[in-house]
Amino acid sequence: NFTSEELDQKITAAKETLGKDLVILGHHYQRDDVIQFADFRGDSLKLARIGAEQKEAKYIVFCGVHFMAETADTLATEEQTVVLPDLRAGCSMADMADIAEVEEAWEEIQKQFGDTVIPVTYVNSTAAIKAFVGKHGGTTCTSSNAVQVLEWAFAQKKRILFLPDQHLGRNTAYQMGIPLENMVIWAPNEGEFQDVKGNLEDAQMILWKGHCSVHQKFTVDQIKGIRERDPDMKIIVHPECNFDVVQAADQAGSTDYIIKAIEAAPPGTRWAIGTEVNLVQRLAQEHPDQHIVLLSTTMCPCLTMNRIDRPHLAWVLDQIVAGNPINQIKVDEETAHWSKVALDQMLAIS
Ligand code: 13P
Ligand code: SF4
Repeated sequence: NFTSEELDQKITAAKETLGKDLVILGHHYQRDDVIQFADFRGDSLKLARIGAEQKEAKYIVFCGVHFMAETADTLATEEQTVVLPDLRAGCSMADMADIAEVEEAWEEIQKQFGDTVIPVTYVNSTAAIKAFVGKHGGTTCTSSNAVQVLEWAFAQKKRILFLPDQHLGRNTAYQMGIPLENMVIWAPNEGEFQDVKGNLEDAQMILWKGHCSVHQKFTVDQIKGIRERDPDMKIIVHPECNFDVVQAADQAGSTDYIIKAIEAAPPGTRWAIGTEVNLVQRLAQEHPDQHIVLLSTTMCPCLTMNRIDRPHLAWVLDQIVAGNPINQIKVDEETAHWSKVALDQMLAIS
């Protein structure tokens, strides 16, 4: 059991010892006491890009969740080692699309729609799902580049199977002018199309029935309450929030988009933000000249992101220094190959 100071010293010392052999990447949802040690911080797209560029580093320590570390390993060289400080840092959304269920759904979708569908997966998915998408001519997207990626996908095929987040899929397609009537849900547990509003044949978006448990906590009632109490407050949310919340908000975008919007706002701007609480609290600290609050009155941490803490970071760095790296994330060769096809396609599009 180390004190906070001791942990900080251990992490700093390990970083010094490893020098250029080590790069620490941190997602915006990480806790302050962890992200302070990140060499680069960013949203999912930025971290995927930066990770892919870090060819010099022997070790990439990913302060984020499992699928992000898998993406880093997929884009890394053979010689590089990717480490996730706590292997329990998963993502409940990524777990909602299981590869066996997706294969099954694909068969049904082919039966229904023939060769008119291209699969696209949000990067918040396992490497196996990314590989599936790569094998079937599709690609990945993040919340930063979803519009560009969907435009590309619609240039290939008439319909998109969008995995695993129904909300990002629906919000993005609607923003592109696709009516809700042309979107259906595929429910893997029931093995059926749901939310069919018109003719199934008209479907352009087939949305996997997945969601983010953190962003699901933001509601239209919260927005209404704020509008009544403080009509000047700007409301900005992440597109993992549900459709009604995104429609009721003033702006929606990825974590990087939210940060840039706040950075560009004049002093005195008042914000309610609908995304993970660590980022909202950090923005409030960094912009004391603005008034920044969480959209929800109850806390909404991403529990798995928060599993990465200083003791875990210090521990994995110690093991790297000792020449015995632990908590390595290694995507098998076949999966990595097809997953890289999908990810490279995304990086080329955006
Ligand atoms: P972005 O950082 O790409 O906006 O993603 C948010 C998220 O939920 C990551 O899991
Ligand atoms: Fe997954 Fe949601 Fe946490 Fe992002 S915020 S890592 S989508 S559970």
